[in-house]
Amino acid sequence: MPISTKLTKALGIQHPLIQGGMHYVGYAPLVAAVSNAGAIGCITALTQPSPEALQAEIRTCKALTKKPFGVNLTLLPALSPPNYDEFAQVVEDEMSSGQLRLIETAGHFKGLQPFVTKFKEAGAFIIHKCVTVRHAKSAEKMGVDMISMDGFDCAGHPGEADIGNWVLFPKAARELKVPFVASGGCGDGKQLAAAIAMGAEGMNMGTRWMATNEAPIHQNIKQALVDGDENSTTLILRSFRNTERVFKNKAVDEVQKLESEFPGDFSKISHLMKGENYRKVFQETGKIDEGVWSAGTVMGLIDNVVSCHQLCDDIISEAEEVITGRLQNSVDIGTDKETSEKSKASSSAPSITPHWLLQYKYCDNISDARIPHRASHIQHATDFKASGKLVMGGALSDLTGATVVFKTKEDAEEFAVNDPYTCNGIVTSWEVREWSVVDV
Ligand SMILES: Cc1cc2nc3c(=O)[nH]c(=O)nc-3n(C[C@H](O)[C@H](O)[C@H](O)COP(=O)(O)O)c2cc1C
Repeated sequence: MPISTKLTKALGIQHPLIQGGMHYVGYAPLVAAVSNAGAIGCITALTQPSPEALQAEIRTCKALTKKPFGVNLTLLPALSPPNYDEFAQVVEDEMSSGQLRLIETAGHFKGLQPFVTKFKEAGAFIIHKCVTVRHAKSAEKMGVDMISMDGFDCAGHPGEADIGNWVLFPKAARELKVPFVASGGCGDGKQLAAAIAMGAEGMNMGTRWMATNEAPIHQNIKQALVDGDENSTTLILRSFRNTERVFKNKAVDEVQKLESEFPGDFSKISHLMKGENYRKVFQETGKIDEGVWSAGTVMGLIDNVVSCHQLCDDIISEAEEVITGRLQNSVDIGTDKETSEKSKASSSAPSITPHWLLQYKYCDNISDARIPHRASHIQHATDFKASGKLVMGGALSDLTGATVVFKTKEDAEEFAVNDPYTCNGIVTSWEVREWSVVDV
């Protein structure tokens, strides 16, 4: 069952998941793998040494996927800033085929407006990354199409407001006119379901995509993300009001020591902060202690390196299960509304309505075995639900089986016999039992 949101509809993608720009990670192979998996990846423009190199990277990406993908353009203060206009021109030139339409902008507002205007005129869909609702409102005024709300957990630049997602997302939902995606600390399906519940149109992730087979970074970095946990990040550059959440390592210890001795004096830490150290650790040596590199607290939820396809499947199926199981089951919709209302009108005494529980036992390797039959199973359930025969149902949280509620025994049996899960051995046994729903 697809999860369809304003994000998937606007960009013509399958899953409401974005791979945000990542310095020295967001190269064509990862971006294409993310997009081929049904989400959408972004090439990090300024990781490329020149506008010409960015153009070549975009073309490589086009050769690797026919799916939509994006480009991240980060406007950050720098001693010698890159020529943003030339980078932006390359992006605009490459947009003509329509495959590249998403532009993820980030960084300082100063200078953002001309890029928004230029990209919008070229037909772009712009998602601007913000860490506060106040900034998001300013970006909204500039004409961006969507906001990526990056809470305090995020890798990279969480800003100076230190607001966590639990408040940030509902507040964004209340106050923004444009839609937003959840970002920062995102990595699993429970979070996607929660993000949608809080008003988001999907999730943007950074760190989680680094621990995928296709991420073009050294294996040691991926392993460090698996080995690390939610305590393995720390904050630097607070004294510059340019806070960065990074992986806690020896280089970062040294930066923190120097920063506390010489707050706000970049000359004391510049040798440790060099982009070249970052690039070398990711792209060449894998020596995780020898550079300062971004990572988020979502490490606490990363316990494997998987393909982008598998990651999307895992997140989407978990979100579906939460939405159709746990969330739906939490609402007392187990009684037929009409019957219940009629009985309430005619009498104050409890009414008893017989329902039928179909109880499934699943095979041991359910997670893998169900994949090819999942869509047809869900369609089967959707058809029964639409015809009013199926009341509610869902898998048990440990995936050993499922329980589905019907109004008649015959419907329950017909459902079980024809279910693609039963026909293909996913269901190893089933039984139908009577269950009295008491409406008091
Ligand atoms: C290694 C790394 C490099 C990043 N570089 C950039 C960047 O150049 N520009 C940008 O806008 N965001 C950058 N980000 C932030 C991500 O796009 C995304 O917003 C963030 O990672 C979300 O938080 P999460 O890592 O908890 O998922 C980077 C993140 C990581 C992990």
